[in-house]
Amino acid sequence: MSNYADEINKRRTFAIISHPDAGKTTLTEKFLLYGGAINLAGSVKGKATARHAVSDWMEIEKERGISVTSSVLQFEYGGFCINILDTPGHQDFSEDTYRTLMAADSAVMVIDASKGVEAQTRKLFKVCVMRHIPIFTFINKMDRDANDTFELLDDIEKELGIATCPINWPIGSGKNFQGVYERETKCVITYSDTEKGTKEGHATRIPVSEEEALKAQIGEANMAQLMEEIELLDGASAPYDLGQIQAGDLTPVFFGSALTNFGVEIFLQHFLKMTTTPLARKADIGLIDPVEHDFSAFVFKIQANMNKAHRDRIAFMRICSGKFDVTEEVRHVQGGKVLRLSQPQQIMADERKILSEAYAGDIIGVFDPGIFSIGDTICMPKEEFAYEGIPTFAPEHFARVRQMDTMKRKQFVKGITQIAQEGAIQIFQEFNTGMEEIIVGVVGVLQFDVLKYRLENEYNVEIKLENLPYEHIRWIENKEIDLDKLTGTSDMKKIKDLKGNPLLLFVNPWSIGMTLDRNEGLVLSEFGRN
Ligand code: G4P
Repeated sequence: MSNYADEINKRRTFAIISHPDAGKTTLTEKFLLYGGAINLAGSVKGKATARHAVSDWMEIEKERGISVTSSVLQFEYGGFCINILDTPGHQDFSEDTYRTLMAADSAVMVIDASKGVEAQTRKLFKVCVMRHIPIFTFINKMDRDANDTFELLDDIEKELGIATCPINWPIGSGKNFQGVYERETKCVITYSDTEKGTKEGHATRIPVSEEEALKAQIGEANMAQLMEEIELLDGASAPYDLGQIQAGDLTPVFFGSALTNFGVEIFLQHFLKMTTTPLARKADIGLIDPVEHDFSAFVFKIQANMNKAHRDRIAFMRICSGKFDVTEEVRHVQGGKVLRLSQPQQIMADERKILSEAYAGDIIGVFDPGIFSIGDTICMPKEEFAYEGIPTFAPEHFARVRQMDTMKRKQFVKGITQIAQEGAIQIFQEFNTGMEEIIVGVVGVLQFDVLKYRLENEYNVEIKLENLPYEHIRWIENKEIDLDKLTGTSDMKKIKDLKGNPLLLFVNPWSIGMTLDRNEGLVLSEFGRN
């Protein structure tokens, strides 16, 4: 075993997901209270501190008061080195969130106790399920009036299709929030909002067997209700099963209040017991073991203009195996080159910390002179393999791009190609032409604005976007199909992606069905791969 196995085994890398306003930022801030934050990459976007990463297009973010950036935080707690991947809150940037999830080994889902499962959570959740990573649920805002606890669990099971296993159970909510009952130890941990903003530790633990003491603390009515609910719960909920949790089939559920700092450390302690060390990842040569294998990583996010003064692009990589050593050369598999990663760093909000080493489980940002694409693999020069690509999600809005000044053709092609490499947009061409006709597809319409803004500000190219009526895109899976003979509906459009793969655009699902009916053997897929 390598001499840095301990470093890898103490790493825990998770993504934190939620519908906007459920309390993701607040919870993250509280996590940091417990650990010595060793690296704050990006910033915790507390509204009070409102520190934003500086970038051109984030002007849009500021103007509209939304967050579109993601960040990475690293902190130490209880002998573990924890990496939190924060995800952008705005739904129009959900594709970035999907990719961030690909870089995590588990996900923490924050749910607002008065709202239950919301639209954004549902979408993100699907990606976690696809990857079979463990999902931990933190039901937040118990200090406010909450939905019935059984209903909340029911909601998760029905909406998300995952069994739930409450690790603790709330006693009351809102003004009557008394704390939680911990099922494993059969103790009540009492709540007091005077601890707001401080570390926990002075919460009282009372075993439920000590009836009098408990009654005195939480009151008779709360106690009676708790006893009834415990009984119901033990009969109704799925049993605790670590194997199922780690396979992503069962979600452990915790209750608390991030704002008043209750239940956060309890969550953290249980979470660390249940979550896994960095997972092995699938590559074209088989599974790559994080400890046994030498350094390897894949690119999951590219962000332009992290810093206006630098006008640069940063490629974010998840280290999947081994130790990264800045002095060693590495192979960029898709680029076919051996190189030294330039300025490997942990990205801060206003500053960057240059790293000399990092380990499997960590995320590093490297300077990207325009060579990396999402999904690319980096490994040691003696090797050559590729990690499984990251699925691209089907854009739902399409527009034809018209360039206003045809003299600036070169800048235009460069700009739009680079922005597409970053994964903010997808670009397509008419089936029988070249780059002169460009169709752009986005997951959220805000990305059209970002595209226009960035082309103007960074590449000095003015464009006009002409909306197209298509809403559905399908990749053609069976390459042997003769596209000229393909018979679709009158509203179907044939296009190709930059790699020349054929695709079809449809206005409505009905046309997809008709086209499948009319062309025997045609196989269409909703996902492309980077
Ligand atoms: P997000 O990152 O998921 O979008 O949510 P964020 O943490 O920014 O929280 C959204 C709002 O919910 C904030 O209030 C925050 O203070 C509040 N909040 C978070 N956790 C709790 C909780 O456990 N209990 C209660 N009662 N509120 C909580 P805001 O008014 O939008 O912002 P602020 O002015 O308080 O910063």
